[in-house]
Formats: sequence, structure tokens, C-alpha cells
Amino acid sequence: MPIVKPTSENIKTAAELLKKGELVAFPTETVYGLGAIAFNERAVAKIFELKNRPGFDPLIVHIAEFSMLEEVCHFNEKAKRLAERFWPGPLTLVLPKKENVPGILTSGLPTVAVRMPAHKVALELIKECGLPIAAPSANPFGKLSPTKAEHVLSYFGEELFILDGGECRVGLESTIIDLTQEVPVILRPGGVPPEEIEKFLGKIEIKIASSSSPRAPGQLKKHYSPRTPLKIFWRKEKFSGKRIGFIAFSKPPAEKYEVLRILSPAGDLKEAAANLFKFLHELDKMGLDLILVEPVPEKGLGLAIMDRLRRAEADSEI
Ligand code: TXA
Ligand code: MG
Repeated sequence: MPIVKPTSENIKTAAELLKKGELVAFPTETVYGLGAIAFNERAVAKIFELKNRPGFDPLIVHIAEFSMLEEVCHFNEKAKRLAERFWPGPLTLVLPKKENVPGILTSGLPTVAVRMPAHKVALELIKECGLPIAAPSANPFGKLSPTKAEHVLSYFGEELFILDGGECRVGLESTIIDLTQEVPVILRPGGVPPEEIEKFLGKIEIKIASSSSPRAPGQLKKHYSPRTPLKIFWRKEKFSGKRIGFIAFSKPPAEKYEVLRILSPAGDLKEAAANLFKFLHELDKMGLDLILVEPVPEKGLGLAIMDRLRRAEADSEI
């Protein structure tokens, strides 16, 4: 099955596939997701298999209506406030799970991650199923996240039913916040800047793990990686004779490079975030020796951008 337009007919077909226990790729505002019905253990197992994802890295459950939460998790007051303020949107809440949620989905944790995506197609698909959908990003484990339907196709081929929603508006995964602690903890920076959450909720902690600690599964140091070696460009490093692609933040560099991309000519972090994975995918296909990326200011969405870049850079050998 190729990439299909998200007509109501195709969304119905996708929902039928899901209800039969198949996987379907669909757009969200952050990145494309690889979905299965959250309560179908075997379908969820297929996600891990297809992505080659380790069992210790739990999935996010996507809902389309607040009423769907009841079967998924125990909601609390803070969660309610955050959900009312930021949903639908790129914020994932970690809460105590309910029994319906299979252990394979949460990697055996007593908690579950849940969010309501801000994308018409995703919401329609979930509603059409009438059930929550478990979905990680639609990429093989450790690879660059997909922000276009073609990225998903290039990873998994025509076997997979892919709903095409165009380019993802946010372009970075959701922010994950753990609400099972006294003080809420941000486990992954993403589409909602931590400052915005703190302003709204009061004190929060940020604990972004850089190893495979079980508290923040999936936050492995090496993640989101292109095949081409990548370096965050701090100094004017010399790599003579190499074919180098340069991703600048807002201004073109003085030096000449094989390829140049500018994340946001206006210096806007939102625009930069939306372009990041797209540019990395583009440059990764060009057979370059090296991709250099200029660091962006580490505030607001810049925190999530730099997090992804550091993980992409980890262990890069040139
Ligand atoms: O924007 C997004 O969040 C996208 C779209 C498709 O919604 N999804 C996404 O899923 O980024 P994924 O699988 O690539 O990342 C999910 C991460 C896991 O790696 C893990 O770190 C965290 O969510 N997670 C899931 N359940 C958790 C739990 N119970 N406790 C702590 N972290 C959890
Ligand atoms: Mg992912």
C-alpha cells in the first residue's frame, strides 16, 4: 500500500486495518506516528518488531477525547490543568496506568504516557477507531524522526499504509512530563517549551537522561541519528577535502560548504524546529562526509532542538 491522501474514506480504511490488528502510519503535529490499537497486545508487539525497538522503551498512547482517558490512566488535578491548557498539542503526560493498558506498551512500568495530538487526521483516525492508539515516531529505532510521509515510506516501504498529512507543523516530538512525582519532571524537551509549562504550573524539574536509565526509557544518548556523521559546530573546525553540508541557524556562514540550509532566516526557533528533521533527512541522502550544524540558543524550543542534535552527534565518527 502506498502513501494515501487523508480522505474520510482512507481514514476509514486505516481504522479498519488498525481494528484488525494491523499497523498504520499517520501524521501528527509533531512527527509521523506508527500506530496500533493501544489495547491490542499483539498489534503493539508488532510496533516493537517493525521498529526494532528495545522492549525497555515504552510507547505513547494517543487519545482524541477526554473520555478516552478513563480506560488508560488515573488522572490527577495537575494533569487536568495541563491537559486543558495544552491539549490538543505536543505535550505528553506520564501518569499511573490502568489495567487495560498492556504491559508491553509501558515496558512493564506502572505508568503510561498519554497525549492528545493537535492534528485533524490523527484525531479523526482515533475517533474512527473509537479506541486510543499507541504510537511511537514512525522510524526505525535510533533513526531520524519522520516529518513527511515520504520519510516513513523510505523507512518501511509500501507494505505500510501511510496517511499523508503533509509536513508536520511542529517538527519535533512532544514534551514529556512525569506527573507521578510531587514536583513534575520533564523527561524529554519537545514541542511545548519547559518555560511555558513552568509559568503555568509553577515549579518543575528537568531531568533529561543521557543514558538508558529506566526512569526515562528511550532517552538513549545515541538517538535521532542520520547515517552521515554529524557535528555541532562550535569552532571553525577544519575538515579539509571532505564534502560537508552545513545547517545554519539564521545567517549563512562565511565559509563555503557543499550544501547549505538555514533553519530560520528570521532566527525564529519555531521555524527552526519545524525544519530541523526535514533538513537532516535531505542532507543525509546526499552522500556527504559530514553534516555540521550550528547550535541554536538554548531557550524555549531551542532546548529540544539542542537535545536532538546532541543525541544525533553522539558517537559520530569522522
Ligand atoms: O510527539 C510525539 O511524542 C510522537 C508522536 C508520534 O506523538 N511520539 C513519539 O514517540 O515521540 P516515541 O516512541 O518516539 O517516544 C516516546 C517516549 C519513549 O521513548 C519514552 O522515553 C517516553 O516516551 N515514555 C513513554 N512511556 C513512558 C513512561 N511510562 N514513563 C516515562 N517515559 C515514557
Ligand atoms: Mg522516537
